Amino acid sequence: MRASRVVLLLLAGTTLSAGPAAGQDSPASTAHPANWPAAKSVGLVDPAIEKKIDELLAKLSLEQKVGQMIQGDTASIKPEDLRKYPLGSILAGGSSPPLGAPDRSPIGPWLATAQAFRAVSLERRPGYVPIPNIFGIDAVHGNGNIVGATLFPHNIGLGAANDPALIEKIGRVTALETAAAGIDWAFGPTLAVPQDDRWGRTYEGYSEKPDISKAYAKALIDGLQGARASGTIQQGNVAASAKHFLGDGGTTGGIDQGDTQIDETTLIATHAQGYVAAIDAGVMTVMASYNSWNGEKMHGNKSMLTDVLKGKMGFDGFVVSDWNGHAQIPGCTGTDCARAFNAGIDMVMAPDTWKGLYESTLAQAKNGTIPMSRIDDAVRRILRVKFKLGLFHAPRPYDGRAELMGAPEHRAVARDAVRKSLVLLKNNGGVLPIRASAKLLVTGPAANDMGPQTGGWTLSWQGDGNKRTDFPNAQTIWEGIDETMRAQGGTATLSADGSFAEKPDVAIVVFGEAPYAEMRGDIRSLEFEPGDKQALTTLKKLKAAGIPTVSVFLSGRPLWVNPELNASDAFVAAWLPGSEGGGIADVLIGDQAGKPRHDFRGRLSFSWPKTAGQFVLNPGQPNYDPLFAYGYGLDYRSPGRPLGALSEVSGVDASLSNRSVFFARGATPAPFGASLGAGITRSPVDSATQQEGAIRLAWSGAAPAAFAITGPELDWSRESNADLSLRIVYRVDAAPKGPVELAVPDGAAGKGLAATAMFSRKPGEWQTATISLKCFATVNPGLKKVASPLRITAAAPFTVSIADARIVSDPNASGCPE
Ligand code: BGC
Ligand code: BGC
Repeated sequence: MRASRVVLLLLAGTTLSAGPAAGQDSPASTAHPANWPAAKSVGLVDPAIEKKIDELLAKLSLEQKVGQMIQGDTASIKPEDLRKYPLGSILAGGSSPPLGAPDRSPIGPWLATAQAFRAVSLERRPGYVPIPNIFGIDAVHGNGNIVGATLFPHNIGLGAANDPALIEKIGRVTALETAAAGIDWAFGPTLAVPQDDRWGRTYEGYSEKPDISKAYAKALIDGLQGARASGTIQQGNVAASAKHFLGDGGTTGGIDQGDTQIDETTLIATHAQGYVAAIDAGVMTVMASYNSWNGEKMHGNKSMLTDVLKGKMGFDGFVVSDWNGHAQIPGCTGTDCARAFNAGIDMVMAPDTWKGLYESTLAQAKNGTIPMSRIDDAVRRILRVKFKLGLFHAPRPYDGRAELMGAPEHRAVARDAVRKSLVLLKNNGGVLPIRASAKLLVTGPAANDMGPQTGGWTLSWQGDGNKRTDFPNAQTIWEGIDETMRAQGGTATLSADGSFAEKPDVAIVVFGEAPYAEMRGDIRSLEFEPGDKQALTTLKKLKAAGIPTVSVFLSGRPLWVNPELNASDAFVAAWLPGSEGGGIADVLIGDQAGKPRHDFRGRLSFSWPKTAGQFVLNPGQPNYDPLFAYGYGLDYRSPGRPLGALSEVSGVDASLSNRSVFFARGATPAPFGASLGAGITRSPVDSATQQEGAIRLAWSGAAPAAFAITGPELDWSRESNADLSLRIVYRVDAAPKGPVELAVPDGAAGKGLAATAMFSRKPGEWQTATISLKCFATVNPGLKKVASPLRITAAAPFTVSIADARIVSDPNASGCPE
């Protein structure tokens, strides 16, 4: 690390610093405002508006002021609650539904919800001054929470496009589709500058270098809010939120909500640059970050939120906290946190804690724990945004303009963004572009699936559990290819497993990461599909048949894919492209003569690793040695030299990478093994898809005996709280003659769940059981020290074949076994 800088900085700041003295190990978490950049623009203050705020503030009761400072979530509050608790804002979280309708709903229920809260906030009631509610949502790649919206590539793909003009258009479209749903506020842009690609939010960042973030902050905010915050909701603009302030992309180990252990100079140079631009563009809100800086939670860091952000940097909109982030400040709970307000948070996002928080904050306002000056400042900032956005003006001409959702001209912008975001990493022998007259095979698990194509923050928080029918205005990658080939007179065939009747001229294999958001996307190494290389198997099969292969890789970060690169003639990093799968065909498929119709324009905004252990791999660092450097990308005009064979040694201990695949393709992948109790015999059998892809376990039944997967001790305390499940693919060969128990034994406590019915069902048929980890936690609370991720015990004769066992994220899990 930059130890010398830390020391210099501490010396320079000794008079101001409350942090540890020079020479001590941990650098300070108290900022020195003098070191920070100041805004150049005039900001949001307009004397005419300030006068209106003065008048309004004079009329507001303390109850109403405190209410303005609290935000509740649609899953936990009803419009009528606002009569008793006059909250200033409502949000709909990633998995929070509109009123009386499912989370996956089209514009109608969302509009009705926003209007219902708005209506109560504007009611004339005795002792209440009508103040419009401000309704916020995670419109982070288009208004992605709403069925039918245009879905743009996630930020990592947009970073590769490096095109601020495109970003401004995206901001405008997002604003229109947000305003049309009656929503006033988009929780973006994310200005994180991710440093360690194991972080589950890497894809929310534009780049690992601050430059693109800086240029894009202004562009997206101009698009959302109107240039220099000149737009209003009447003009189809919405408030933006620059997030997460500050240092979210710099946590040690890439751990979500972790600790960013860097000195102030690095915090400014790497993580703050986007905010300089955002404030200059007049961003109306800034969201505080879950992470700590050198051990201190940002949510409670007054020097950062007040002295730096609002003081030196000149931000004069309001600071909103993150989802129950205040509860993580030492001394706070979800329903009691004066410290957050005193540190400079103006509005607390208290999704389900709003009621208790309102009551305690009111008491703290009355007894002076939170000074009146602080309350007036917070409310002034919130009202400033509400005035600027035009929320006090009744007409809302964009409300309910359903024709804007997924409008053809919006989708055209998204399709253009997909084309520009694709990065060509390999194109040996000029496999691409594909002639439109070719016989094309399309395969891979993500070829015809909106899930991996749209990623997290899509209809649901994690982006999982979505069906094709949830995307009325979209095209899968396969559908785009099919349409393109037909239009040009060629043929494409979709094959689920890569098999074919007639040998194709070329095959496109679409594969990648399953969707995730936030901490659920944190990984331990950068190896793609550790434990079970399913895509690689398909690629190798095609290659062995002499078919040129084109990989389309969908991911939220660069991953170590050397084996897959070796098995591909061409390889395209397509990130998380969103609703417009057709953009991929535009670039990959040429005309009938094989001439390109669109060239590749994307260049890596994240360095691509040479080993799975290059977690932190950023330009400028000592020994920077990527496989593909920052800025890399081939195109048709300059094809470059063919890529030779790459090392297939991942560079990381398998036990580090694989923590979720316990059994696959007839074997236990490293670091897992299996143990057989006395009287159990094991033999290889065919699975539904593979020769010897399963094992048959036969219990003689002489005495109780267990089959157990062995391996490192696992901590599943977080997993069991996060809707993760154990999925087993099995076939009952001879139903048990006595009870069978299924366990995830925790430490010495070996308790399990009765699973006799599960293992007696449908004998002779391959079937899948998906068991929520919460079931196992009911018998072994905590699941902190899992000794075996799967143990089957029987005391009577029983034969079962197992083809697969792994941890999956499955919101439709079948529950507990019987
Ligand atoms: C995320 C934010 C998001 C908020 C509301 C938090 O968990 O960190 O990025 O805006 O939830 O959904
Ligand atoms: C919400 C998200 C939020 C997350 C925080 C989820 O339940 O839907 O909006 O970001 O919780 O952990």
